[in-house]
Amino acid sequence: MTPVPRSHDSRGAIFCTCKQRAQGPGKGDEMKLIIAAIKPFKLEEVREALTALGVSGLMVTEIKGFGAQAGHTEIYRGAEYEVNFVPKVKLEIVVPSDLADQVVETITQTARTGKIGDGKIFVLDVGQAVRVRTGETNQDAL
Ligand SMILES: Nc1ncnc2c1ncn2[C@@H]1O[C@H](COP(=O)(O)OP(=O)(O)OP(=O)(O)O)[C@@H](O)[C@H]1O
Ligand SMILES: [Mg+2]
Repeated sequence: MTPVPRSHDSRGAIFCTCKQRAQGPGKGDEMKLIIAAIKPFKLEEVREALTALGVSGLMVTEIKGFGAQAGHTEIYRGAEYEVNFVPKVKLEIVVPSDLADQVVETITQTARTGKIGDGKIFVLDVGQAVRVRTGETNQDAL
Protein backbone atom coordinates (compact mmCIF):
# COMPACT_ATOMS: atom_id res chain seq x y z
CA MET A 1 0.00 0.00 0.00
CA THR A 2 1.28 3.47 -0.86
CA PRO A 3 2.01 5.53 2.26
CA VAL A 4 -0.02 8.70 2.54
CA PRO A 5 2.35 11.67 2.15
CA ARG A 6 2.24 14.08 5.09
CA SER A 7 3.65 17.53 5.67
CA HIS A 8 3.90 19.96 8.58
CA ASP A 9 2.51 23.47 8.45
CA SER A 10 4.19 26.47 10.15
CA ARG A 11 2.62 25.57 13.53
CA GLY A 12 3.87 22.03 13.37
CA ALA A 13 0.47 20.50 12.64
CA ILE A 14 0.45 17.48 10.35
CA PHE A 15 -1.76 17.65 7.31
CA CYS A 16 -2.41 15.18 4.57
CA THR A 17 -1.19 16.10 1.10
CA CYS A 18 -2.60 12.96 -0.52
CA LYS A 19 -4.12 14.00 -3.85
CA GLN A 20 -6.97 11.56 -3.49
CA ARG A 21 -8.09 13.19 -0.26
CA ALA A 22 -7.83 16.72 -1.56
CA GLN A 23 -11.08 18.63 -1.85
CA GLY A 24 -10.03 20.12 -5.14
CA PRO A 25 -7.06 20.60 -7.42
CA GLY A 26 -3.94 22.02 -5.85
CA LYS A 27 -1.49 24.36 -7.53
CA GLY A 28 -0.19 22.73 -10.70
CA ASP A 29 -3.16 20.40 -10.82
CA GLU A 30 -5.78 22.82 -12.11
CA MET A 31 -8.23 21.86 -14.83
CA LYS A 32 -10.51 23.73 -17.20
CA LEU A 33 -13.79 22.70 -18.77
CA ILE A 34 -14.14 23.85 -22.34
CA ILE A 35 -17.67 23.88 -23.68
CA ALA A 36 -17.95 24.39 -27.41
CA ALA A 37 -20.98 24.51 -29.68
CA ILE A 38 -19.92 23.83 -33.26
CA LYS A 39 -21.41 22.95 -36.63
CA PRO A 40 -22.13 19.19 -36.70
CA PHE A 41 -20.20 18.52 -39.92
CA LYS A 42 -17.06 19.86 -38.24
CA LEU A 43 -17.13 17.32 -35.42
CA GLU A 44 -14.76 14.74 -36.91
CA GLU A 45 -12.18 17.29 -37.99
CA VAL A 46 -12.25 18.94 -34.57
CA ARG A 47 -11.99 15.58 -32.80
CA GLU A 48 -8.93 14.66 -34.86
CA ALA A 49 -7.24 17.99 -34.18
CA LEU A 50 -7.92 17.73 -30.45
CA THR A 51 -6.62 14.17 -30.30
CA ALA A 52 -3.43 15.30 -32.04
CA LEU A 53 -3.09 17.98 -29.37
CA GLY A 54 -3.18 15.39 -26.60
CA VAL A 55 -6.77 15.71 -25.43
CA SER A 56 -7.54 12.38 -23.76
CA GLY A 57 -11.33 12.46 -23.66
CA LEU A 58 -14.38 14.47 -24.48
CA MET A 59 -18.14 14.42 -24.33
CA VAL A 60 -20.31 15.02 -27.39
CA THR A 61 -23.99 15.94 -27.37
CA GLU A 62 -26.29 16.76 -30.23
CA ILE A 63 -28.02 19.99 -29.32
CA LYS A 64 -30.11 22.76 -30.80
CA GLY A 65 -29.38 26.36 -30.08
CA PHE A 66 -29.25 29.88 -31.29
CA GLY A 67 -26.82 32.75 -31.14
CA ALA A 68 -26.89 36.37 -32.14
CA GLN A 69 -29.18 35.83 -35.15
CA ALA A 70 -31.67 33.84 -33.06
CA GLY A 71 -31.42 31.10 -35.69
CA HIS A 72 -33.51 32.96 -38.21
CA THR A 73 -31.06 33.51 -41.03
CA GLU A 74 -28.73 30.57 -40.54
CA ILE A 75 -28.28 28.07 -43.34
CA TYR A 76 -28.11 24.40 -42.36
CA ARG A 77 -27.52 21.70 -44.98
CA GLY A 78 -28.21 24.07 -47.81
CA ALA A 79 -31.53 25.36 -46.55
CA GLU A 80 -32.39 28.32 -44.43
CA TYR A 81 -33.61 27.03 -41.10
CA GLU A 82 -37.09 28.38 -40.51
CA VAL A 83 -37.22 27.77 -36.80
CA ASN A 84 -35.45 29.47 -33.93
CA PHE A 85 -33.17 26.56 -33.13
CA VAL A 86 -30.35 25.27 -35.30
CA PRO A 87 -28.71 21.85 -34.81
CA LYS A 88 -25.24 22.02 -33.27
CA VAL A 89 -22.86 19.65 -31.59
CA LYS A 90 -21.76 20.46 -28.07
CA LEU A 91 -18.31 19.36 -26.92
CA GLU A 92 -17.35 19.23 -23.27
CA ILE A 93 -13.63 18.80 -22.71
CA VAL A 94 -11.77 18.79 -19.39
CA VAL A 95 -8.04 19.40 -19.73
CA PRO A 96 -5.10 20.46 -17.57
CA SER A 97 -5.30 24.25 -17.41
CA ASP A 98 -1.98 24.51 -19.26
CA LEU A 99 -3.62 22.97 -22.34
CA ALA A 100 -6.78 25.09 -22.33
CA ASP A 101 -5.58 27.94 -24.54
CA GLN A 102 -4.36 25.52 -27.20
CA VAL A 103 -7.66 23.63 -27.13
CA VAL A 104 -9.61 26.86 -27.60
CA GLU A 105 -7.30 27.92 -30.43
CA THR A 106 -7.56 24.53 -32.14
CA ILE A 107 -11.35 24.46 -31.99
CA THR A 108 -11.53 28.04 -33.22
CA GLN A 109 -9.32 27.35 -36.21
CA THR A 110 -10.74 23.94 -37.09
CA ALA A 111 -14.43 24.71 -36.69
CA ARG A 112 -14.33 28.04 -38.54
CA THR A 113 -15.95 28.40 -41.95
CA GLY A 114 -16.24 32.16 -41.73
CA LYS A 115 -20.03 32.07 -41.96
CA ILE A 116 -22.49 32.83 -39.20
CA GLY A 117 -23.22 30.02 -36.78
CA ASP A 118 -19.65 28.70 -36.65
CA GLY A 119 -20.02 28.27 -32.93
CA LYS A 120 -19.04 29.51 -29.52
CA ILE A 121 -16.61 28.44 -26.83
CA PHE A 122 -16.81 28.87 -23.07
CA VAL A 123 -14.06 28.10 -20.55
CA LEU A 124 -14.79 27.27 -16.90
CA ASP A 125 -12.72 26.22 -13.90
CA VAL A 126 -13.12 22.60 -12.77
CA GLY A 127 -13.16 21.81 -9.06
CA GLN A 128 -12.57 18.09 -9.11
CA ALA A 129 -12.24 15.07 -11.39
CA VAL A 130 -12.30 11.38 -10.49
CA ARG A 131 -11.63 8.30 -12.62
CA VAL A 132 -14.30 5.88 -11.44
CA ARG A 133 -12.30 2.69 -12.07
CA THR A 134 -9.24 3.64 -10.05
CA GLY A 135 -10.26 6.53 -7.82
CA GLU A 136 -7.51 8.67 -9.36
CA THR A 137 -8.26 12.35 -9.06
CA ASN A 138 -7.88 15.65 -10.88
CA GLN A 139 -5.26 15.72 -13.67
CA ASP A 140 -4.41 12.06 -13.00
CA ALA A 141 -8.06 11.24 -13.73
CA LEU A 142 -8.10 12.86 -17.16
N1 LIG B 1 -24.64 33.28 -25.14
C1 LIG B 1 -24.72 31.98 -25.37
N2 LIG B 1 -24.93 31.13 -24.35
C2 LIG B 1 -25.02 29.80 -24.56
N3 LIG B 1 -24.91 29.23 -25.76
C3 LIG B 1 -24.70 30.04 -26.81
C4 LIG B 1 -24.60 31.45 -26.68
N4 LIG B 1 -24.38 31.97 -27.90
C5 LIG B 1 -24.35 30.93 -28.74
N5 LIG B 1 -24.56 29.78 -28.09
C6 LIG B 1 -24.58 28.43 -28.66
O1 LIG B 1 -23.62 28.39 -29.68
C7 LIG B 1 -24.24 28.05 -30.93
C8 LIG B 1 -23.54 28.77 -32.03
O2 LIG B 1 -23.65 30.15 -31.84
P1 LIG B 1 -23.30 31.12 -33.03
O3 LIG B 1 -22.06 30.64 -33.68
O4 LIG B 1 -24.50 31.28 -33.91
O5 LIG B 1 -22.99 32.45 -32.20
P2 LIG B 1 -23.20 33.94 -32.70
O6 LIG B 1 -22.89 34.81 -31.54
O7 LIG B 1 -24.56 34.09 -33.33
O8 LIG B 1 -22.05 34.12 -33.77
P3 LIG B 1 -22.24 34.32 -35.36
O9 LIG B 1 -22.61 35.76 -35.56
O10 LIG B 1 -20.92 33.94 -35.94
O11 LIG B 1 -23.33 33.38 -35.79
C9 LIG B 1 -25.69 28.40 -30.76
O12 LIG B 1 -26.52 27.63 -31.58
C10 LIG B 1 -25.92 28.08 -29.28
O13 LIG B 1 -26.13 26.67 -29.14
MG1 LIG C 1 -25.18 33.02 -34.94
